[in-house]
Amino acid sequence: MATTHPSPVPATLAAHLPTGLLIGGHWRRATGGGTFAVHDPATGAELFDVADATPADGLAALAAADEALPAWRAVAPRDRAELLRAVFEQVVARIDDFAALITAEGGKPLAESRAEVTYGAEYVRWYSEQAVRINGLVRTAPAGTNRQLVLQRGVGPALLITPWNFPLAMATRKIAPALAAGCTVVVKPAGLTPLTTALFAEVVRSELAARGLPAGVINVVPTSSSGALTEPLLADPRLRKLSFTGSTEVGRVLLRGAAQGVLRTSMELGGNAPFLVFDDADIPAAVQGAVAAKMRNAGQTCVAANRFLVHESVADEFAQGLAAAFGDLVVGPGSAPGTTVGPLIESRAVDRVAEVVAEAVDGGARVAIGGDRPAGRGSFYNPTVLTGVDPAARAVREEIFGPVAPIVTFGTEDEALDLANSTEFGLVAYAYTRDVGRVFRVAERIESGMLGVNRGMISDASAPFGGVKSSGLGREGGEAGIEEYLESIYVAL
Ligand code: SIN
Repeated sequence: MATTHPSPVPATLAAHLPTGLLIGGHWRRATGGGTFAVHDPATGAELFDVADATPADGLAALAAADEALPAWRAVAPRDRAELLRAVFEQVVARIDDFAALITAEGGKPLAESRAEVTYGAEYVRWYSEQAVRINGLVRTAPAGTNRQLVLQRGVGPALLITPWNFPLAMATRKIAPALAAGCTVVVKPAGLTPLTTALFAEVVRSELAARGLPAGVINVVPTSSSGALTEPLLADPRLRKLSFTGSTEVGRVLLRGAAQGVLRTSMELGGNAPFLVFDDADIPAAVQGAVAAKMRNAGQTCVAANRFLVHESVADEFAQGLAAAFGDLVVGPGSAPGTTVGPLIESRAVDRVAEVVAEAVDGGARVAIGGDRPAGRGSFYNPTVLTGVDPAARAVREEIFGPVAPIVTFGTEDEALDLANSTEFGLVAYAYTRDVGRVFRVAERIESGMLGVNRGMISDASAPFGGVKSSGLGREGGEAGIEEYLESIYVAL
């Protein structure tokens, strides 16, 4: 592992970073002047102090969003589209700045951070194109007595709570459709990675200002006390929508809060993705797909392959191939050239991964590679393949959120699907097979919102991303993503 690396944030970028709260078009200090520190997970070093929003600041942000709503709703769809298009172009033009920040506060290798900028910007482009395609309906009532008219309108001020693992893409996936639909927003970025989202909000703010559009359309309130900030917001009748990406546990708490105002909710929650390798699979391709599905952001994605369910006849070949591929990965700081696996977000995440691995090994699993931490500073864990894992082990039942691949074997297709579905989660599944009939059988029986067939990457701004069961409600991306921010008004005439 590399032990030194260049400063993750170039001085010119650091000098101009928005570290305050964005409320009503102005960056300002938190009430009382409180701040909290953002750290570099590769070293543990403090990077920046960020304004620490209080509940009063959250309510001020909601007031600004509410005040801007009538004017923003009245902006022509084409003008909303052009604003978003300009934001897309600015994000793409500033890919180096965004990527440096994502790596600095989140730890990803720079190449992955650049990929996140491209992916995140794509949501802005897609919804700039969708803003002018919000369709209603006119028809004659079946009885022939009158016409029915259905109008679509933005639901109103939306609270968007975003996670630390994709600080740009998860923000754009919510902000872009909300703005395209005519909603105004209060964004609460993750406390571990607030700066990337703040920089994105600054791009939106400056484009709004340049066009004379309402300043309070986007508001940003980073905080170290999420619960205290969100509780009064959820209870406030001005708020009409909640969108959250994060754990199922926190999602349940937020859903209870959202029940007070009967809010529209979109919930992208935890996963426990099965990665199925059938006996007819192209094994080298499955290994390659497994690395992509497992190792993006060092395994810290909701769509990370969590359990490798492999037919017993190909299990050895697959495990050897995966261990060899993991052996080629380079663990180190995201800003160091050549790094392919960065740190985990914080040291307690490493402790949890180590605990899950130790428990699996105690239960009889064998370590094919990894199973330990590299020496030195920072929150790193080595890419790990475990074979012969008991399906009851925590490594199989819980979302690992780290670079660990537990392999469980199966004998028949039915057994594979039963194992795959034996979880409360249902975000995504992956299947490797060359049998077209099986592809359809798996797609029809799998209990997940998304399925990657012979692919380890499914994310796409133009596709509906979301889960079933305890993995969430609603969809983000694609045509469906904007509907989450629209309400229908039925007019009988
Ligand atoms: C997530 O981990 O929640 C999102 C991953 C993605 O959009 O690909």
